[in-house]
Amino acid sequence: MIISGKFFYRNRIVEGCIVVEDGIIVDIRRNARPNLEFSRGVILPAGIDVHVHFRDFKESYKETIESGSLSALYGGICLVVDQPNTNPPVTDSEIYLERIRKAEKESFIDYALNLGLTEENSGKIREIVEEIEELVRIPAVGEVFLQHRTIQVSYETLKSVRGQIEKLITVHAEDPVLIEREDVRPKEAEITAVRKCLSIGNFYFCHVSTPEALNMIYNSKSFAEVTPHHLLLSMGKVEFGRVNPPLRSEKDRIELLRNLSKADVIASDHAPHTIEDKKEGAPGFPGVETIYPLMLNLVRKGVISLPDLIQRIVINPAKIFRFDRYSGIEVGNYANLAVFDFSEVRKIKAKDLHSKAGWTPYEGFEAIFPKVVFLRGVRALDEGDVLIDRGFGQTCITNTKIT
Ligand code: DOR
Ligand code: ZN
Repeated sequence: MIISGKFFYRNRIVEGCIVVEDGIIVDIRRNARPNLEFSRGVILPAGIDVHVHFRDFKESYKETIESGSLSALYGGICLVVDQPNTNPPVTDSEIYLERIRKAEKESFIDYALNLGLTEENSGKIREIVEEIEELVRIPAVGEVFLQHRTIQVSYETLKSVRGQIEKLITVHAEDPVLIEREDVRPKEAEITAVRKCLSIGNFYFCHVSTPEALNMIYNSKSFAEVTPHHLLLSMGKVEFGRVNPPLRSEKDRIELLRNLSKADVIASDHAPHTIEDKKEGAPGFPGVETIYPLMLNLVRKGVISLPDLIQRIVINPAKIFRFDRYSGIEVGNYANLAVFDFSEVRKIKAKDLHSKAGWTPYEGFEAIFPKVVFLRGVRALDEGDVLIDRGFGQTCITNTKIT
């Protein structure tokens, strides 16, 4: 297949042809005889969202791998990293592989899963990683909560585990003592936790919400992730606005956005809860479908540059989590492509989205959704129609299905 049009290649928009064979980009040429032409819009690499909570198991009413991955596809995302704080949690090889098998049957897009770390499994974490990795590579251990229901570890345990495994460890950094002190978790909880973790070693910090913590991480060898909600929403302005870490003041939000170039990754922390659960105070926002469209609208408005965005939503996630072949439009990579037309700005409406959550904190926000999405060279989404079946997604990195 030869696709022609304008596309994002090595940090700029070029016009030419992308030659695809067996799902892989085999050539990029100025001229060729295309069998598919996009005269409108621009072809971007499809996004990677390295922080989603697809629930399933006992929380299937909030989201499933199937519904979450469909929602991701509609948002131009080709690969997700799912988090282990499910019910029951993903803390041993049996449940890890059970979930991977489920994803192989049910995921629309490519799927990877982090392994949970708890006080209980911390002594065996190396063995568990090795056992799983005989079959499938684990992108990271985490999201580790310093204190959160079943998935939680102390700083001491984190330190001991950091010393035992080479693997990336993703941390939800809020100090367990400081978050208890006030009704709303204070900034200091994040800043203190990040400082303490940095003194232990290198980590991947999930959803950094304060400019102070972002700066500390920027000056270290660790990685920082930021979310669209901490960049676009501020405290007190959103109905059902509870999330961890919390939305910050408008001043801090603007400061975080101004410092976006210091972040390594933008991820959604897609944390779907139904409206009923939100009314009960459940923390978290759905976001996998809106992350790329919202960010592209910031590009349209000149708030961030397209290369800066692609770096943080495709290239860095692929590099940091070692997703070979997913690092953008380049020979040797998968043809994971999303076609966007910057002249078609749409207002986000919950009723148009596909998560089971059924609501969005971005109601009415402007966004640019993909018109067409290719997954490994296959046209998967076309003007709102899904052209692949569930199970099309492959579990990360291995080409072979696990049986
Ligand atoms: O608000 C949040 N909700 N933050 C997290 O880190 C976890 C998430 C969830 O799983 O609901
Ligand atoms: Zn999370």
